[in-house]
Amino acid sequence: MSAAKQYQETIPAHGGTLINRIATEEQKQTFLDKADSLPRVEMDDRTFSDLVLIAIGGFSPLTGFMEEADYKSVVTDMRLSDGLPWSIPITLNVTEDVADSLEIGSLVRLDDSTGRFVGVLELTQKYQYDKLKEALHVYRTNEEKHPGVAVVYQQGDVNLAGPVWLLQRDPHPSFPRYQIDPAESRELFAEKGWKTVVGFQTRNPIHRAHEYIQKCALETVDGLFLHPLVGATKSDDIPADVRMRCYEIMLDRYFPRDRVMMAINPAAMRYAGPREAIFHALVRKNYGCTHFIVGRDHAGVGDYYGTYDAQHIFDEFEPGELGIVPMKFEHAFYCTRTQSMATSKTSPSTPEERIHLSGTKVREMLRRGQLPPPEFSRPEVATELANAMHKGKE
Ligand code: ADX
Repeated sequence: MSAAKQYQETIPAHGGTLINRIATEEQKQTFLDKADSLPRVEMDDRTFSDLVLIAIGGFSPLTGFMEEADYKSVVTDMRLSDGLPWSIPITLNVTEDVADSLEIGSLVRLDDSTGRFVGVLELTQKYQYDKLKEALHVYRTNEEKHPGVAVVYQQGDVNLAGPVWLLQRDPHPSFPRYQIDPAESRELFAEKGWKTVVGFQTRNPIHRAHEYIQKCALETVDGLFLHPLVGATKSDDIPADVRMRCYEIMLDRYFPRDRVMMAINPAAMRYAGPREAIFHALVRKNYGCTHFIVGRDHAGVGDYYGTYDAQHIFDEFEPGELGIVPMKFEHAFYCTRTQSMATSKTSPSTPEERIHLSGTKVREMLRRGQLPPPEFSRPEVATELANAMHKGKE
């Protein structure tokens, strides 16, 4: 048995099978021939990234946008209708007018936000849904100023459901060399002989607390899978190209290359805190990870979630149900007493002896032309951020 096949069997995708919904050459040609006669739906960037993740298997076992039974069960019970854990609705939303114009059983042409034909939906259902309920269950708030809730409120009122195909897998326009899809990451882990791999989700520039928890985790497993999210984020988050450059600098200087693999996660950010932590873990399981890092306020925004809510939510599942092990880390900081990175678990420091800065504070410093201190950020990364901020102002 090949190493990759064995890997697939010992670390199965969520639901057992890694999904592939990329059209074959033959299917693609059939779809292209029909392109002009099919009804057309334009997707926003977030929905397009969901389509891509379904197609490449990142959202296994999903083969399309959720039907009503799955949607309702995910919203209220964090499970698909067959009981498999799943915490975030994956839906394609349109206005009532658009929905009315589409016939159940037909094929729908899916365009991206630039009007490019990128996928096909076989429409099996269209249904109204309760946005307030989705907000309260998934985001734990109904406040429109929550960036994830705002997206839900702005969506069309009808969900279209059914299996999908992605017409073709294009290289990422900005990060082609880091586009490693689940089938490939699984193969690479197997080739390297890694039996345990910890996944790391991030949407922020790497700082020393990130580096610390990544390395603490790596001390106990074979490999580290750095998986920065490069899909849609809120407008004040640092852009993906800047974050990726910071990671490249870190990988060159501060990480052992044979123990770390970096790939981009095409997903959009939901800012759903605890619910999103489960989702992030399941997606990394599909990429072949056995472990997943969950630190402080994972996928949180503002003060909507308690610091460790995204860790506690893992206890709502029976051990083994998720098929990926969360590695939970307390708030990490630089400790001036022990002169090392630490958490309150490992350092007796008083709050005055702890150096940690919030993302907002770092952005303020950079705007004033100040570099964050070396206790918070590696100097090369601080300089890169300062340069990016400077360029953004020009
Ligand atoms: S997130 O929205 O992707 O969670 P971020 O990129 O800041 O934001 O965090 C990536 C991961 O690092 C998350 O698991 C988060 O909980 C963790 N993390 C970030 N900062 C710290 C910190 N100071 N201490 C412990 N964990 C942290």
